[in-house]
Amino acid sequence: MSVTTLPSSATLSPTSSPVATVCDDLLVPTLNGPVDFANLDHAASTPALAAVKDAVDRTLRTYSSVHRGNGYASRVTSRWYELARAEIAAFVGARRDDSVIFTRTTTDSWALLAHALPAHTAVFVFATEHHSTLLPWGEHRTVTLPIPGCVPEALGTLEAALAADAATSGSQHRLVVLCGASNVTGEIWPIERFVRVARRYGARVAVDAAQLAPHRRIDLAEADVDYVAFSGHKLYAPFGTGVLAGRADWLDAAAPYLVGGGATSQVRPGAGAPRATWAAGAARHEGGSPNVIGAVALAAACSTLRRHWSAVERYEATLTARLREGLEAIPGVRTWSIFDRDSVDRVGVVAFTVAGLDSGDVSATLSFEHGIGVRDGKFCAHLLTDHLLAAVPQGTAVRASVGLATTTEHVERLIAAVAELAERVRRDPAGWVPPADPGAELEAPRPW
Ligand SMILES: Cc1ncc(COP(=O)(O)O)c(C=O)c1O
Repeated sequence: MSVTTLPSSATLSPTSSPVATVCDDLLVPTLNGPVDFANLDHAASTPALAAVKDAVDRTLRTYSSVHRGNGYASRVTSRWYELARAEIAAFVGARRDDSVIFTRTTTDSWALLAHALPAHTAVFVFATEHHSTLLPWGEHRTVTLPIPGCVPEALGTLEAALAADAATSGSQHRLVVLCGASNVTGEIWPIERFVRVARRYGARVAVDAAQLAPHRRIDLAEADVDYVAFSGHKLYAPFGTGVLAGRADWLDAAAPYLVGGGATSQVRPGAGAPRATWAAGAARHEGGSPNVIGAVALAAACSTLRRHWSAVERYEATLTARLREGLEAIPGVRTWSIFDRDSVDRVGVVAFTVAGLDSGDVSATLSFEHGIGVRDGKFCAHLLTDHLLAAVPQGTAVRASVGLATTTEHVERLIAAVAELAERVRRDPAGWVPPADPGAELEAPRPW
């Protein structure tokens, strides 16, 4: 994907987020009393931007059906739904004739694309992928490429697989599915280099931008990418909407993904089941009443990011550089990468392990004692984590991920907390016990 090259972190020193979220002043209970919540879990889900909440509040005042009524509220709602689609088309740099289809998540987007693939399409996907991107293509037509150690190796593996397919099976259609940025290591795949290889074999390219789109500009037309998918809940718009954008032809030719109202242009009696003529364009795959709140929320997030890209990228580069160098300086802590060291740019996602400690105990300690939110485990990328963490007991890691609700203090707090924990365990490996779950003390009152 077309990715901006950032100046080195030494020239950057922004200390506060350029864009407000609705959780910026969230106090959470810990064993040491209430503290400002340190959100280092953006790769899982992001809080809503303040601008997203404002847009949702405004939309709710006239909330009504989409494309199903002539009442004023319905006409306004329908217009905003289509304007949201146009906003997202601009956000991904879509070509004029690309489709932008609202889905629920990235998982849903890939299920839709898999459903729309022409018969006998051969799909090429690296084993590094998140399960939602690795698994939906069907056992018989998927070529799973091994986890590479460096970018040239990955390019060579892809080229060899495409060449073998061209020489033997002669698939009419080929699709290469790539990762924008890894949800485990944050490494940004140099998409343009893979596109050049794919094109030599007439293959289309789909990019999983779930972790890339919230942090970097993407441009389908400029990068010559055919499809992109991402999720609103990872892009500051947690209202149940995802996107599949890209070439319209396969999507327009496919049977509707969800059969029902909205996906039909006409239904007539048939011999058995009624005969339906399916709608053309995005509506064909958006059966049922559209999630207009989710679409508006995502459009508001995309529009806000577009207006602040330079500041967002500078701010996150500062946080990411400090996060990595701080963790890597702690004795006993190791960070993990797919490619050889620093050969690619990264978003602010860092997987790390602490010698002698289970990742679940680390994340629980960070939360219960320090009010820090991170994720631990295998991150729905079992093939990758089993490969990277083969020598780590339990084979799991902790993942810290930054975004617009992360402050420089949060990053410093995480580094200090991990350093203190690693030191405690180094001094007394047998004596350290993880803190007990404070349980009831952490129970929040119901929001309804
Ligand atoms: C890289 C990547 N792809 C796909 C997904 C799936 O996203 P969703 O859960 O929104 O379907 C995730 C979720 O963590 C992800 O990180």
